[in-house]
Amino acid sequence: MANLIDGKKIAMDIQAELKIIVKDLKVVPCLAVVLVGENPASQVYVRSKARTANDLGVKSETIYLPKETTELELLEQISKLNNDDSVHAILIQLPLPAQIKEGTILNAVSPKKDVDGFHAVNRGKLLIGEDTFIPCTPAGVQEMLVRSHVEIPGKHVVIVGRSKIVGLPLATMFAQKHKHANATVTVCHTGTADLTAITLQADILIAAIGKPEAIKGSMVKEGAVVIDVGINRVEEPSSEKGYKLVGDVEFDETAKHASAISPVPGGVGPMTIAMLMKNTVKAAQNSMRQ
Ligand code: GUN
Repeated sequence: MANLIDGKKIAMDIQAELKIIVKDLKVVPCLAVVLVGENPASQVYVRSKARTANDLGVKSETIYLPKETTELELLEQISKLNNDDSVHAILIQLPLPAQIKEGTILNAVSPKKDVDGFHAVNRGKLLIGEDTFIPCTPAGVQEMLVRSHVEIPGKHVVIVGRSKIVGLPLATMFAQKHKHANATVTVCHTGTADLTAITLQADILIAAIGKPEAIKGSMVKEGAVVIDVGINRVEEPSSEKGYKLVGDVEFDETAKHASAISPVPGGVGPMTIAMLMKNTVKAAQNSMRQ
């Protein structure tokens, strides 16, 4: 049976380290989170971010805007936060309502406060290996592998999914000449002719598809390390909420083949929030050097 990669525990270790750093800072880091509309999953994430920030001594301010908010109104809100010296970090919770263009909004956030790493300038810096804010979920995946002592250099990392938030930044990161990367990287997507033929070659398989239990045990090589980025709500009439959370990986069957696997929940999810806190602390530190 596979070892469990306990993202919750690793995230708590990182948060304990950050708490010490925050205590010694000359400034209280401040994160502003903007949530437009009432997406229930987004509301859960935003509350969780605020709770974690509070635990670490990081100030957080959540701005709730109605679902009818126009692009111009959101741009005005972002401009206020960009110009507010007491705010070090800005996160625009995705997805945004249909009337707002995501690209326009993400590029309006000051790159210095862009703790999601979604501004085109920060994406470009990541691509060429310059210091920047690394998107939180990909950063969390890399960190959980490193802290679980999984060797990455020389390995074949297969990423299933090419999203701008997870798959693409991960591919960039693991291809870099860096002690925690330097891997051979393959990105699979809906255009991949024979997905199983590729996933079976993975030493490290990362599922970031957004489809419940799409990766089956038969698609995983003996001894592979499997990281499940998916968080999908599936109906579960017997549960109190009426749904349960499952990943993109069929856990039980895959765990019989893998050497290590991250669960859902309790895997990548808590790591994403820990890395957001790390980026927020970094933004506050950078602000003192300017
Ligand atoms: N929605 C889903 N994932 C993310 C993320 O990493 N950042 C933001 N801002 N919104 C998200």
